[in-house]
Order: sequence, then C-alpha cells, then structure tokens
Amino acid sequence: MRTCAIVVAAGAGTRFGAPKQFVPLRGARVAHHAVAVAGASCDDVVVVLPADTTWDGPPVTASVTGGVTRSESVRCGLAAVPDDADVIVVHDAARPLASSALFRAVVAAVETGADGAVPALPVSDTVKQVEGDRVVETVDRDGLMAVQTPQAFRAEVLRKAHAEAPEATDDAALVEALGGAVVVVDGDPRNIKITTALDLELAMALLSGGDAA
Ligand code: C5P
Repeated sequence: MRTCAIVVAAGAGTRFGAPKQFVPLRGARVAHHAVAVAGASCDDVVVVLPADTTWDGPPVTASVTGGVTRSESVRCGLAAVPDDADVIVVHDAARPLASSALFRAVVAAVETGADGAVPALPVSDTVKQVEGDRVVETVDRDGLMAVQTPQAFRAEVLRKAHAEAPEATDDAALVEALGGAVVVVDGDPRNIKITTALDLELAMALLSGGDAA
C-alpha cells in the first residue's frame, strides 16, 4: 500500500515561547528529525509550515502553508497528499524522537483492517478533574491511555473525517466521531512531544544515549 506522511509544523509554540519545532536539536532542527523519520518510513512526505517559512530540511514531496489550528494545518497538508496514497500518517513535528518502527506499527494496523491506529501509553499518574485550584473528582485511570503521533489512517476515512472542517486535538478523534474503528499500538516513552525547554533538554539527552550535554 502507498503511504504518505503529513508532518504538521505550523504551530506558533505559544507555551514554549517560540516555534519549538524549529529550534536546534543535535545538529538539526526539531522538525528535521521528525521529517527524516517520516521520509524513511513513508513513500511521500508533506510538511506543513508557518506562513513565510521556507523548508530547509530533508527532502519532501511537498511543503505547504498551515492554518490557525492544528486541524486546519492537517487539512492544508491533506490537499497536497498524492491521490494514490492508501494510508496517510499524521505526525507532529514537535515529536523528533518517533522511530521508524512506530511508523511501521501504525501503518501495519491500518493495512490489516483498522480505519485508524494510534500509539498509546497507559497513564501512570493519578488523574483529577479540577476547577480553579479545587479538585472536583478523581478520574478512574483504568483504561485511560495517553496518545501520541504518528497516527495512521485509511486515506479516504481521514479525508471524510476532515470534510466538514471540524476541530480536535488529534485526527483520531475526528475519525472516532465518524464511528471509525481506531486501534491502539504500543506507544514509545521516548517519543516525547517538545512543549517546554525541559522537554528539549530531555530530547537532547535521549538522542545522545543519556549524556545530557
Ligand atoms: O500545539 P501542539 O503542541 O498541540 O501542536 C502539535 C503539532 O501541531 C506541532 O508540531 C505544531 O507545529 C503543529 N501545529 C500546526 N498548526 C497549528 C498548530 C499546531 O501545524 N496551527
């Protein structure tokens, strides 16, 4: 089956204080790492960038300008996905440590019949619902999973899920809303999302095998 990755890199990095996906990480930018693994794992790669940004990383099939929200940016990428793609893999540029094995695992789950597949890790902390500083309730964490990217989908299912321009924090939520069958594969604890300066330090340490220099 033909695979195409969409790597979304059009965020403003509000929590980080700068577009975190373009900060240097071990000799390349964060987004370069994410696109490199996408390129090694999929037949095509579409990278989605902020306006006025020129792609200076590994080769891609297309680079396009994103939108105001993550979901809009995915739709900008979808418009540039080749028509013959059977499986589309959406990946956050802010996850530079995803492995090819993880890309292969989500693609394989779709190739064997799922509408979508996402990497997931069990939630290990106790989770509480709060309002202001007051705890409202403690959520039963049995069955709760934290979900990562890359997320793979049957191409026509992902296109349909985005047809009415809905919003969600990931693409699986849109496919679930259509009643699509989304399965989980084992997530990777190393596949962290760069959100804060500490995450960047952690990524540097992980990339150098534990030496956080
Ligand atoms: O903001 P958040 O960390 O959830 O962003 C996840 C990914 O989506 C990042 O790689 C970010 O660059 C991308 N994004 C985007 N367009 C937006 C917002 C986020 O491509 N408007």
